This record gives sequence, C-alpha cells and structure tokens, in this order.
Amino acid sequence: MAIVSSSAGRAESSKTTAKNRLVDAAPLPEDTTAPREDGLRPRRLDDYIGQHELKQVLSIAVQAAIGRGDALDHVLLYGPPGLGKTTMALVLAEELGVKCRITSAPALERPRDIVGLLVNLQPRELLFIDEIHRLTRVAEELLYPAMEDRRLDLTVGKGSTARTRTLDLPPFTLVGATTRAGALSSPLRDRFGLIQRLEFYGIDDLRAIVKRATGLLGLQLNEEACLEIARRCRGTPRIANRLLRRVRDVATVRGVSTLIDAALVDEALSLHRVDGRGLDASDRRLLELLLESHGGGPVGLETLAAALGEDPATLEAVVEPFLLQLGFLQRTPRGRVVTSAGRRHLGWSEQP
Ligand code: ADE
Repeated sequence: MAIVSSSAGRAESSKTTAKNRLVDAAPLPEDTTAPREDGLRPRRLDDYIGQHELKQVLSIAVQAAIGRGDALDHVLLYGPPGLGKTTMALVLAEELGVKCRITSAPALERPRDIVGLLVNLQPRELLFIDEIHRLTRVAEELLYPAMEDRRLDLTVGKGSTARTRTLDLPPFTLVGATTRAGALSSPLRDRFGLIQRLEFYGIDDLRAIVKRATGLLGLQLNEEACLEIARRCRGTPRIANRLLRRVRDVATVRGVSTLIDAALVDEALSLHRVDGRGLDASDRRLLELLLESHGGGPVGLETLAAALGEDPATLEAVVEPFLLQLGFLQRTPRGRVVTSAGRRHLGWSEQP
C-alpha cells in the first residue's frame, strides 16, 4: 500500500500516489478477501441502510414481479464506486428467491463469454454485469434481442456457409452497474426498465452502517467512535468498512478488548493520515501545493500533475472529485483554486 504511516501533519515530504489509497472508493483486493467480509453485505432490503428512494422503487418492482410470477425488469444502477451496486444486485436476487450470476464487462471480451452466461440462465435469474459501459459492441448487440425479446441470435459457421440460429432464453433480469451512465450507448440504456442512481450516504446512515458492521465483526465501538468513522469515510460504505478494519488492527495490537472509543479511531486513522473530513495525504498534498507555491491558484491541471508527479487523468478522476464535492477545490476556466473552506480546513487564513 502506498500510504506512508509516519508523521501526519503539514509537512508531508514522502510521496503518496493516488493508487491503492485507503480512501479510494474503487475496490481493493482486501475488500472482498478479508475474512468475514462477505458477511458484512446486507442480504435483504430491510437490512440495506440508506438509499431510501432506490429501495422504495426496487421494493415495489420486486413485489410486482413476484406477484406476476415474471422476471424483474432489467435494472441499471449507476453512481460512484463503493456505494453498494453489487450488494443491491445480490439483495434483489435474495428478495426474488433466485440466483445472481456476477460478471463484469471486461470479462466478456469474446462473444462466447456472454453467450455462455445467457444460455445457462435459469428462469427469473439475475445476471449482474459490472462496468457495463465497457461492453464490446458485439456483446452489446447480442444483449439487445436477449433483453428485449429473450432471444439470442447466433451466427454459426463462417463465410458463405454462415447461418443465423435463434435460441429462446428464459425470462431473466439483467442488472447493469456503472460509474459512468453517460458512457452507455442509448440503445443499451433504453432497454433498462428501471434506471436508478445511488447517492453518497448521509452521516446518520453511515453511522448505522458502521454500527451494523462492528456487530458482525464482533467489535464494540461506542457511538462517538462509529460517528468518527462515518465522518471520515467520504460518504462511502466500502471506505467505512475499510477504515473499520484499520481501527480493529490498532485495537488488536493495543490489546483493547473493551469498548473502542473515538480516541482510538483517531489514533488508527491518523496513522493512515486520514483526517477528520476523510482527506488523505494525496488530497492534502494537492491543496498544499496550490497554497504554498501558487497562492491558492488558479493553476492548470497539467502543471499541478507535473509538480505532484501524478498523471493528469488520475489526478482529475481520483483525487479531485472528493475535494470538489467537499467544496475545498474549484475548477475554473483558468485552473484549480483552493476555496476558503479548503484553506480553513488546512489551517490557513481564509483570505489569500
Ligand atoms: N454495508 C455496506 N453497505 C451497506 C448498506 N447500505 N447497508 C447495510 N450495510 C452495508
């Protein structure tokens, strides 16, 4: 992991790259392989905390599908990583009492990959395709009639002997997930009956998610400790669970077998340089560079990236979004600027 766990504070000379950050919402291997990790996922809609509108919409759709004895309409879930799109697909399958087959678009490179999945579906099962905006054109074109008419049009043979064969498919539900709904082709988007956005979680929902996870992991955290993790997890349950594991590490090493309090959470997360609002060393390096060397900006992306030793696209896609969301950074036509809220957070006076 690139996070360096020595002296937190203003002067962060050691380089922290934007990759493999504790607070990156994209999945890290430990998110799925850590012991008991799968047990943290809610299994039913009633256990799924937050995303109230989404749950209402899907609950009605599930009940209607069960009532009709039909498959659920195809569902597209979009929104930032780490908010529970895969979890929701698994919850839907559980509610419908069917299996969920999980794959992702990059794993469906050859036509036979998607054909293999489709022909093996049982009636009313779910097929979950993550990163669905990355499907190849061939895979997409196989999906259109499958989604619309439960039909698979296959070309058998080559050249002048090539023939089209049609296979009927059982009723099924495609659940597509993407962080980039705008990158989906419109013919594909139009074939989803339900298109739903997942939102960042509010502090109360996050606190409840942390509390639930502590119970499942056999840990005891007081209310303030849960709140402290909720404040630092960037509105994202995946990050909350990751932070909780780092807190558990410190508790284990310190031999804390009693209630974990906010001071221990602070110790654990400061060790990883995750501050009170969830900023890590990469975030602070960017803001500090702007403040210390450029009077707070404006500074062009390329200049910033070169000074930080990052690739501009990574900086734009991975580091900046959370700072923009918090209102600590602004993108202006002349470049990036630290806002007065950003200055305040870093302990600088509000005015340049
Ligand atoms: N764990 C991760 N996301 C969750 C959610 N939305 N509800 C309950 N537990 C969770």
